Amino acid sequence: MSMLSITDMYAGYGAGDVLDGVSLHVDAGEVVVVLGANGAGKTTLMRAVAGLISRRGGIELDGESIARAATDAIVRRGLALVPQGRGTIVDLTVEENLRAGAHVRRGRGLAEDLDRWYTQYPRLADRRKQKAGLLSGGEQQMLAIARAMMSRPRVLLCDEPSLGLSPLLTEELFESLRQINTDLGMAILVVEQNAMIALEIADRGYLLEIGEISESRPAAELAADDAVRAAYLGA
Ligand SMILES: Nc1ncnc2c1ncn2[C@@H]1O[C@H](COP(=O)(O)OP(=O)(O)O)[C@@H](O)[C@H]1O
Ligand SMILES: [Mg+2]
Repeated sequence: MSMLSITDMYAGYGAGDVLDGVSLHVDAGEVVVVLGANGAGKTTLMRAVAGLISRRGGIELDGESIARAATDAIVRRGLALVPQGRGTIVDLTVEENLRAGAHVRRGRGLAEDLDRWYTQYPRLADRRKQKAGLLSGGEQQMLAIARAMMSRPRVLLCDEPSLGLSPLLTEELFESLRQINTDLGMAILVVEQNAMIALEIADRGYLLEIGEISESRPAAELAADDAVRAAYLGA
């Protein structure tokens, strides 16, 4: 059963399409990665799914079409996006950001969820009264993920979580995504330019090349493929 299913999706910015008929799916409990070079259309894909730009084609969330739904409605239906370059409100504190994330579900179980995410990311707990803009890049990315999770999504979309982070922080961040997937059975779709670590936590992966997407292959098979390694793993 697919949690997220995209069929023949087209999207762009006016002057022609960036995505030329992309189809992919994420099953319940799966981590799926879309690998693509800079400019391949990864962010466009995420923004199209989240309803932030206009798109054509089929998009189903847990069996229901969200192809014509607006962003707010899509979030309420259970899709959360961690946008590229962090998804935090820099003038709000850590805790205010987390509370804002719970807004769509009217804050039920708020205290419990705050605890849950402060336990997952203790550094956020230490800085709960600090403005998000004063956090390090890694902490901001953690906050962006926790904020997205505060909406209690059914599918989590992450746009290049490794961007601008050290290898160590990237490792830590992906490990937390793995835990979210294992502990909550969360379906996760990650797009990444930096493939090695994403493939480590992924079940399956797709390759996105100038707006077109490949068939999916098991993550381990992609990580072992010489052509993929040359293109995406810097090896
Ligand atoms: N706001 C925009 N307006 C016009 N073109 C854009 C915009 N954002 C991205 N593009 C173009 O769309 C293509 C895909 O970009 P993007 O989805 O950001 O790629 P990626 O995230 O894989 O690096 C690029 O050619 C880029 O220049
Ligand atoms: Mg991008």
